[in-house]
Amino acid sequence: MKRVWGYIAIAILFFVLIWVWTLQVDNSLNYPEFISGGALFFVIFILCMFNVRKRLPFLPLWPAHKWFLLHSVAGFLALFLFWLHADVLWPKGLYVQILTILFYGTTLSGILGLIMEKIYPNLLTRVGLECIYERIPRDLAEIRNKAESLVLECTEKTGSDTLAQHYIETLGWFFQRPRFFINNIFGGQNAQTWVMQQCSVLERFLNEAERGYLDQVYVLAETKRKIDFHYSIQTMLKKWLLVHVPLAAAVMTMVIWHLIVIQVFFN
Ligand code: HEM
Repeated sequence: MKRVWGYIAIAILFFVLIWVWTLQVDNSLNYPEFISGGALFFVIFILCMFNVRKRLPFLPLWPAHKWFLLHSVAGFLALFLFWLHADVLWPKGLYVQILTILFYGTTLSGILGLIMEKIYPNLLTRVGLECIYERIPRDLAEIRNKAESLVLECTEKTGSDTLAQHYIETLGWFFQRPRFFINNIFGGQNAQTWVMQQCSVLERFLNEAERGYLDQVYVLAETKRKIDFHYSIQTMLKKWLLVHVPLAAAVMTMVIWHLIVIQVFFN
């Protein structure tokens, strides 16, 4: 934690220095945008170097956790430098507006990713079940098969199809594939409530023998609910970079184009 504050202090100092410098340049009737723009380009360049660092982990380029901290703090610094440079939240002109949308998109995805990387691992630990992402489809199929076999066995052995009817109408939907994705990524409990509700409503219509089968289906549904939770959280953890990185690449491309246009304009 102490280390984070060190990085934040350096970022604030850097920002204040650039800000004071731009004010001085502004007073001497020069272009302060060159100072803020140069600083912003430098910070965006450092942000993008994170990708290079991750691709070349064997190089002695500072430990990964320091890069992570540097990147997260520099991301916020870039946002403030962007506002200093543009002087408005939403600039005029289509081309700079596209650049702004891309930059805001990268920053927002970065902030969401950071929040997820901090919160999600704890949520997964609390579920109390370990799960390998790549094996989830197979695990779910196994659970579904077991649930269906139980329902079939119940109908055969008890001669009543109440559980089977209910399975076809409601529980079958749940066992089909991962469910409650949106609610899960917000840490919600809708899946648990839904499963409990379905089972407690059904329980009243079953006899003793059928209830034994329902209890077993409930245990399977509970396991499936936990796997669904893993699926939702791990999907988000795996996929958010697929938004952040292409946006960052687009920002870098637009920034280089912006620099070329400025060069042409001032020469
Ligand atoms: C407040 C703003 C930002 C935050 C909080 C942030 C956060 C993050 C985080 C948490 C990671 C992944 C770390 C990991 O798990 O390995 C990441 C990766 C990355 N970010 Fe950002 N970011 C921000 C802004 C930016 C900006 C503005 C750019 C570039 C224009 C950028 C470019 C990248 C790149 C290139 C990667 C490397 C991805 C990879 O190769 O795996 N980020 N960012």
